[in-house]
Amino acid sequence: MFGKLADKSKCRLMAVIDVYNGSSLCMIKCNNGVCFSSSLGKTSCSFSRSQRTFSCMASSSAAVTEEGKQQLTGDSFIRPHLRELSPYQPILPFEVLSTRLGRKPEDIVKLDANENPYGPPPEVFEALGSLKFPYIYPDPESRRLRAALAEDSGLESEYILVGCGADELIDLIMRCVLEPGDSIVDCPPTFTMYAFDAAVNCARVLKVPRKVDFSLDVQRITEVVEHEKPKIIFLTSPNNPDGSVINEDDLLKILNLPILVVLDEAYIEFSGLDSKMGWVKKHENLIVLRTFSKRAGLAGLRVGYGAFPLSIIEYLWRAKQPYNVSVAAEISACAALENPTYLEKVKVALVQERERLFNLLKGVPFLNPYPSYSNFILCEVTEGRDAKQLKEDLAKMGVMIRHYSNKELKCYVRVSVGKPDQTDILMDCLARLS
Ligand SMILES: Cc1ncc(COP(=O)(O)O)c(C=O)c1O
Repeated sequence: MFGKLADKSKCRLMAVIDVYNGSSLCMIKCNNGVCFSSSLGKTSCSFSRSQRTFSCMASSSAAVTEEGKQQLTGDSFIRPHLRELSPYQPILPFEVLSTRLGRKPEDIVKLDANENPYGPPPEVFEALGSLKFPYIYPDPESRRLRAALAEDSGLESEYILVGCGADELIDLIMRCVLEPGDSIVDCPPTFTMYAFDAAVNCARVLKVPRKVDFSLDVQRITEVVEHEKPKIIFLTSPNNPDGSVINEDDLLKILNLPILVVLDEAYIEFSGLDSKMGWVKKHENLIVLRTFSKRAGLAGLRVGYGAFPLSIIEYLWRAKQPYNVSVAAEISACAALENPTYLEKVKVALVQERERLFNLLKGVPFLNPYPSYSNFILCEVTEGRDAKQLKEDLAKMGVMIRHYSNKELKCYVRVSVGKPDQTDILMDCLARLS
């Protein structure tokens, strides 16, 4: 570190670097008075002309008292890469939203998080109401649920692991595979948790943006894999936020590369395509993730699952938290699978509503909707209208849609498919804003 600083600041006399709990305090005597910045990012520097001394300190790590003593602050214990991390921006909790908008939760048209507005089948409420042993820890292997999933998917339960949402499995995979400094390939625009979890796990994110039609840039992915040797690529099909699917040729090309492919099928039920869960038997480098959040309306109960090659799954078993799936989550998911007719009916309703919503959105002069294989529709906001303003105007009317702050999607909004009456309210509000 000294060498780097000395080069930058052209310091000639001396340097004292005190690394204390990951924080850095640097004292450097210089001739020329050129300031420098430490590699820790946020740094405050002071320069004493009389003593020809620079004192620089990472601002988030420790404070120095007037007597020059170092005083610990809590964040000095935090790993440096996490101190630099911007927090994930989740959507507002329903109750908070309700208070903020001054509306009852049932009067909010919530089309911002791709939830399933029909909720789970009645069996779930019955099972939760008759929960017998909430005071006993859950089955760490979620045996009942994995057996039900084997039946549901046609893939034997030894290939299946359940998590506290697909989100937990994304993080678990990274914890098992990535060393600090390793990299993942992310293909934005896509689900932002891949990049977020990579940052938490101290991994680099190599971005290979999708093409203008949101298809994957397989050529570029191949080059990046060859040159940078990333460990994992995250592919989402249907992709969130645009709803496009990955074609099989592209997937096979990527599976032929020396990289672990995590195929996120959170929305596969709405695509009309078969899940690729069974493929994990023939591809040692494929993991397929799915969730109960969308297909079964269980987003609040947090149950996701994944199909893994046997050579990989054993390590996830070792690393996972033993009680990651609560008893409430497991019995709810099992109960939902007991009523496949309900799940099918709800899926058909959402797919039909998606087509109706798409046609209605096409008629809005300032929106350009993209065809979707999922339970949401991405719309470009055109004619000089501001997408963020549109989201805010709709929110004031009690209709929540998703807007993105990143520059690539600044001019877009994403609308989840709701029930027909929710579509009607949305369209009515859009007409009022026209
Ligand atoms: C592509 C994708 N994967 C995973 C998830 C998270 O699923 P879960 O609710 O099971 O954590 C989401 C949630 O919106 C998603 O869009």
